Amino acid sequence: MSFVEKALNRLKQQEREMAPLGEYRAAPGEAGGPADGAGGEGLEAGADAVPGREPGIPRRGHKLVAVDRARLREEGFLAPEKYQRQMADEYRRIKRPLISNAFGIGVPRIEDGNVILVTSALAGEGKTHTCLNLALSLSTERDRTILLVDGDVPKPHISRLFGVADQPGLLDVLGENPPKLDDLLIRTDIPRLSILPAGQWRNDATELLSSERMRALCRELSTRYPDRIVLFDSSPLLAATEAQAIAALAGQVVVVIAENITSRDHVASALSLLDEHKPINAILNKSRQVSGGYHYGGYGYGYGADTDAEQESDAR
Ligand SMILES: Nc1ncnc2c1ncn2[C@@H]1O[C@H](COP(=O)(O)OP(=O)(O)OP(=O)(O)O)[C@@H](O)[C@H]1O
Ligand SMILES: [Mg+2]
Repeated sequence: MSFVEKALNRLKQQEREMAPLGEYRAAPGEAGGPADGAGGEGLEAGADAVPGREPGIPRRGHKLVAVDRARLREEGFLAPEKYQRQMADEYRRIKRPLISNAFGIGVPRIEDGNVILVTSALAGEGKTHTCLNLALSLSTERDRTILLVDGDVPKPHISRLFGVADQPGLLDVLGENPPKLDDLLIRTDIPRLSILPAGQWRNDATELLSSERMRALCRELSTRYPDRIVLFDSSPLLAATEAQAIAALAGQVVVVIAENITSRDHVASALSLLDEHKPINAILNKSRQVSGGYHYGGYGYGYGADTDAEQESDAR
């Protein structure tokens, strides 16, 4: 059974009609929106919290951001402490096939497999939540470095969560008179994790993300340090065009599906926009209610990540 069939079979029949998608752009005051006061805090120029230099991590003297875990938790992007262990375990399962594909561990190496896009069919399914937690989980891998790229340029939520929404980033490096990429990478106080913010919004964002310069940028990001994983957060596939542009360049795609919320039709339409030859990991998110809240994390399945139960049911 293909990953797509599995993804669709795991979703319960939805009665919900295809909702109108509307414009995908952060409203003022909305997370990722232009004016809710955040941005820039915690950023120090020239600080050096990471001792020495690891390959793939921007050099000393680069900007450094302190990750505000309390704020992330308060905003619902990190699990409450009682769910932390469960969350860590789930992300271990989710990241393993991604790492194997990226570096050819036990499976053939996937071309550009270290460039990973996190996307979804619709807004609000948990892309940013997944991307952030995946980045944190990947950053615990001793022999990898992680570059988290805010590719959701219409709603730069990752940039805001890290307090770097006012910093130049992806769109600036793709525009005219681009600054040097190296100057835009921001180190975090989490070892091995750095960020490329979304940068200044512009109306030709999709064209920039589809440009030859973007292709060259992805190639540079993925090849310069062979141990680096480049993880893109993105906009929803059905509500905006940017994610599809990045999907064309990523070697692997993670599709976050809000179980019981997103209809099968929406999921099928979103998956049809992706290259079926690329490994696509579907993650069911918000899958069970626990004590009135969401079950933290999702569970990865699909390409190389079948659970025993799924294998048994396939065999039946
Ligand atoms: N597994 C989860 N457990 C708890 N809360 C979650 C989970 N996944 C997502 N959320 C919450 O759901 C909301 C939407 O998640 P998130 O912002 O990650 O979605 P998104 O797909 O990035 O949305 P957008 O399309 O607007 O960028 C957030 O408040 C987030 O904290
Ligand atoms: Mg988001």
